Amino acid sequence: MCGIVGFTGKLQAGPILLDGLSKLEYRGYDSAGVAVRDGSEDPVVVKAKGRLSVLSAKIDGGTAIPGTCGIGHTRWATHGEPTEQNAHPHVSEDFLVVGVHNGIIENYQELKEKLIGNGYTFYSETDTEVAVKLIDYYYKKYKVGPIDALAKTMVRVRGSYALAVMFRDYPGEIYAARKDSPLILGVSEEGCFLASDVPAILKYTRNVCYIDNLEMARLTADKFEVYDLNGDVVRKPVKEITWDAEAAEKGGFRHFMLKEIHEQPHAVEATVNSAVKPAAQAEGLEAAPEKVRENADELLEIDLSACGLTEEIVKTVSSIWMIACGSAYHVGLAASYVIEDLAQIPVRCELASEFRYRKLMPGPETMAVIISQSGETADTLAALRKAKSLGIRTLAIVNVVGSSIAREADHVFYTLAGPEIAVATTKAYSAQLAACDILAMYFAKVRGTIGAERLQELLQEIRKVPGKIEKVLEDKERIQWFASKFAHMNDAFLIGRGLDSAVCMEGSLKIKEISYIHSEAYAAGELKHGTISLVEPGTLAIGVATQPAIYEKTLSNMVELKSRGAYLMGLTVYGHYAMEDTAAFTVYVPKTDPLFTANLAVIPLQLLGYYLAVNRGEDVDKPRNLAKSVTVE
Ligand code: G6P
Repeated sequence: MCGIVGFTGKLQAGPILLDGLSKLEYRGYDSAGVAVRDGSEDPVVVKAKGRLSVLSAKIDGGTAIPGTCGIGHTRWATHGEPTEQNAHPHVSEDFLVVGVHNGIIENYQELKEKLIGNGYTFYSETDTEVAVKLIDYYYKKYKVGPIDALAKTMVRVRGSYALAVMFRDYPGEIYAARKDSPLILGVSEEGCFLASDVPAILKYTRNVCYIDNLEMARLTADKFEVYDLNGDVVRKPVKEITWDAEAAEKGGFRHFMLKEIHEQPHAVEATVNSAVKPAAQAEGLEAAPEKVRENADELLEIDLSACGLTEEIVKTVSSIWMIACGSAYHVGLAASYVIEDLAQIPVRCELASEFRYRKLMPGPETMAVIISQSGETADTLAALRKAKSLGIRTLAIVNVVGSSIAREADHVFYTLAGPEIAVATTKAYSAQLAACDILAMYFAKVRGTIGAERLQELLQEIRKVPGKIEKVLEDKERIQWFASKFAHMNDAFLIGRGLDSAVCMEGSLKIKEISYIHSEAYAAGELKHGTISLVEPGTLAIGVATQPAIYEKTLSNMVELKSRGAYLMGLTVYGHYAMEDTAAFTVYVPKTDPLFTANLAVIPLQLLGYYLAVNRGEDVDKPRNLAKSVTVE
């Protein structure tokens, strides 16, 4: 994990580095540091434990360290505690090499011993200091310049890294190297930039270039060059970022999370509209039933041509593995119900961290669906590579354009949620779910498991989901009030069956990860096999019951909890008013197709998590111990 940023050019580097790091704090925020060079002077290195604001105060927002070339880092500790000593940048003894790093050097112990044998000493516990000193070692040993020293280091280290390095002998230049951790370059009239993610430099340039694995770069004030491991220049296209920098700002909301919760109608609408189109716009209208042709204005089609998932390909698929981490895994769980119901195809959900070490036997027609907001989660990326090595087709559902997972998967279905900053995901989750719904409908259509009318009904309904999310958001004050009543609680249990159980998993994660209230999600019928013993008078139990076929069953399980003293909150669909006979507090979501209720039912739970955390005074956007993009195993 961690975020890195670099600038060399005509402007003062300090403020640019701090500004860039502030956009990367979601990647880690336990310490931060910068190194800035003024001409050929040695770099000034300043580091601070804690949030970026501590570092910023130390260097007057960056103005206290003059110089137009520098690198910066915000850390999420892996090797060594979050102390000033362990914070980046790290330096070789005579400031010959100064570097920042995102990732993990797996063989750092072995390399450290080798370097100690060659007279090096170490002041920190980090693997990064080892990497910096290894570069220093090769630079001095072979005397063939920075790119060669970096290449030799890259051959020697195992693990993942995005490295940005300055060499004392090369003023005004920054060198970079990458393997399995994201790194982008940017260029403007003012200079050249590097960063772990686009928002860090979007204020200064929209022209970016993605460095690939095992590539290096050299940045000077007016241009950058990318090199392969042999030291040969690689031609790279510069791409224009089209999304708005505003989208990555709070826009009047108190927290990014609240802003992103409110952006969900738009995120879902954009994602749905990218693949569900008026039939006239989609191919194959001539083959549509008569009713379709008569009503061409009203009729909709699924168009997945952008991700290259043709009907021929879909016909060959007979089972699906959904693989992801965190909330994206919960999307996979919810999607498995929808896909199995509509397309009648077996779906297996796997946590990426488990999948990568598990012995699995795919059939020749298994397809892996890899879900990731960032497209950089280390376990998910490794799982994608494993799926590819097993010879199966891979489809990635990804939000960040050009991310590693997007680039390596056979097919990519981009969610159009825009940049998501809050560590706890909301709008990316909703957009992923909508993408999975579309996939389910597409598979069902191609496999002939639903008819043209049912497909139309579902397509019309998925287009109404954004408006219905808007309706749920209108009810947020009730949830805010409820959260203020329960902010003191220690435990919460969420129960539901079928699709609702997947919603409970996500709702429970939202509550615990930001409010630090212990919460557990259980399949409603399972609680009585042990966990019910934790229920005491006053314990909050949330029953999610949106599925008509199993609604009564969940209600019975809620009653079991009530009899043991639990305080019940019910979450159901308008019309199921009997819920109020059981639950003390009921939240309703608009009616939709039962297969799409997860898209609505998750919203009140996101709001509940948010308001509980606000009431408890927690740092909503940056919960303790977490990072948004987990690029370490
Ligand atoms: C982190 C985030 C979660 C996210 C998970 C997977 O743990 O805090 O919100 O669901 O990573 O991230 P991805 O980018 O792969 O969706």
